[in-house]
Amino acid sequence: MSFWPLPTNLAELLREARRRGPIVEVGGGAGSFVECLGRLGLDAVLLDLMPQPTIGTLAVAGDWSSLPFVRGSLGAAVWANAVRHVSRHDGPDVAEQVWDALSPGGVVVVLEDHPDAQTIAQQNYREVLTLLAGRDPSRGAAVGPQWLRGWADRWGEPVLEAELPNTWSIQDALEPLRWLRARAESGDTVELDRLERRVQSHGMEYGDYWMRAYKKPRGDATL
Ligand SMILES: C[S@@+](CC[C@H](N)C(=O)[O-])C[C@H]1O[C@@H](n2cnc3c(N)ncnc32)[C@H](O)[C@@H]1O
Repeated sequence: MSFWPLPTNLAELLREARRRGPIVEVGGGAGSFVECLGRLGLDAVLLDLMPQPTIGTLAVAGDWSSLPFVRGSLGAAVWANAVRHVSRHDGPDVAEQVWDALSPGGVVVVLEDHPDAQTIAQQNYREVLTLLAGRDPSRGAAVGPQWLRGWADRWGEPVLEAELPNTWSIQDALEPLRWLRARAESGDTVELDRLERRVQSHGMEYGDYWMRAYKKPRGDATL
């Protein structure tokens, strides 16, 4: 459970947001953030292209490019490890839709796990994300921290901001390299060979988390 324990100020912000409307985890995947909310006694909805929620989670199959929520209805929208998959092309529209779906006083929270690449193991992770994005440009995984911060800051001044230690470990660091190798053109494996040697020597690690939360002012209907 990488996000647990949630910082106290974030938990408080989400408790208050829940009073204004439902909480949605956008791109929620297997629902690890929704699980953290459950531990706080907060219910939430998970939206994902391919939701894989644990039993008991309320999940919606949907695309964040066309959010199925009524305007001004949500208490909070949480993006955990998902913003990096928003393509540069869709980014502005997606950001506008999220803001539009929030109720006045509602919050949007962004958590991302690769703000900086300080160690070789973290650089390995960044390089793997870049290669994966090259195979599937719709992932948008090559966006860097500057793009992420710029994307989020369109919502104004953050009401919360923190760098948090990442407690997740990568179970099988070579798995994405095997995936890429299986799809590589012949003669296109030099880069993969080099990265695999680096992963074998130095491992692969997520960077610390970067978290920002933005609150929609009362009376603000649009971006
Ligand atoms: C790295 S996973 C993060 C999952 C979860 N938030 C977590 O932290 O464990 C990114 C998720 O975004 C979802 N996703 C990607 N593109 C999407 C889209 N256009 N609409 C909805 N979900 C999408 C993927 O299916 C995937 O579950």
